[in-house]
Amino acid sequence: MKTVYYTASSLDGFIATEADDLSWLLRFSAEDPTYERFIARVGAVAMGKNTYLWLLNHHRATKGHAPFEWMYEQPSWVFSSTELERPVTGDLRFVRGDVRPVREEMAREAGGKDLWVLGGGDLVGQFHDHGLLDEVIVTFAPVTLGSGKPLLPRRITDPPFELVSVERFGPFAQITYRVRS
Ligand SMILES: NC(=O)c1ccc[n+]([C@@H]2O[C@H](COP(=O)([O-])OP(=O)(O)OC[C@H]3O[C@@H](n4cnc5c(N)ncnc54)[C@H](OP(=O)(O)O)[C@@H]3O)[C@@H](O)[C@H]2O)c1
Repeated sequence: MKTVYYTASSLDGFIATEADDLSWLLRFSAEDPTYERFIARVGAVAMGKNTYLWLLNHHRATKGHAPFEWMYEQPSWVFSSTELERPVTGDLRFVRGDVRPVREEMAREAGGKDLWVLGGGDLVGQFHDHGLLDEVIVTFAPVTLGSGKPLLPRRITDPPFELVSVERFGPFAQITYRVRS
């Protein structure tokens, strides 16, 4: 069982603009052929508040007043220090603070499958701070943003990541790295 950060990024290392805009990414119509393969290995999902709010706001923008149904079959944990609106479906838990007990709970409920930390970058960094990040899969989009929400705001140089694979689809390059301890 691995803890994996699977995300898309601009070439200059941002996963969203400062205002949590993802239109720079969504404008590319190319489907990610690796997603189905990836999600099939995932048994639990974690994310930070702004990622959750993006999903909620995206639902509202695209589906109007339709009930907010959770999009992941896997049990999901949202890190937030404030109360947030719940979806009407899905196994969703709001948590705060130390990632270690949450990671243990995720591992217990993932049925031996991998744990996906969607982001943001600092939440992934909190997992790495405790030696709890195993793999980073980044799909690079052919744009730069200049500023925004950082991919992984930590200095991780020693040991460096180990390159596992490089794939291309449409305008994207997907790079998989193993985190070495
Ligand atoms: N490009 C992609 O594929 C991709 C993938 C994932 C996400 N995204 C986007 O990237 C952006 C990420 O936003 P972000 O960098 O601000 O990160 P985020 O992790 O989504 O949200 C950060 C917030 O989460 C809460 N949080 C984080 N760790 C916590 C902890 N241990 N305990 C309690 N609360 C905690 C804090 O909110 P409070 O303390 O205020 O409650 C913090 O300000 C979003 O726009 C998202 O949609 C893009």
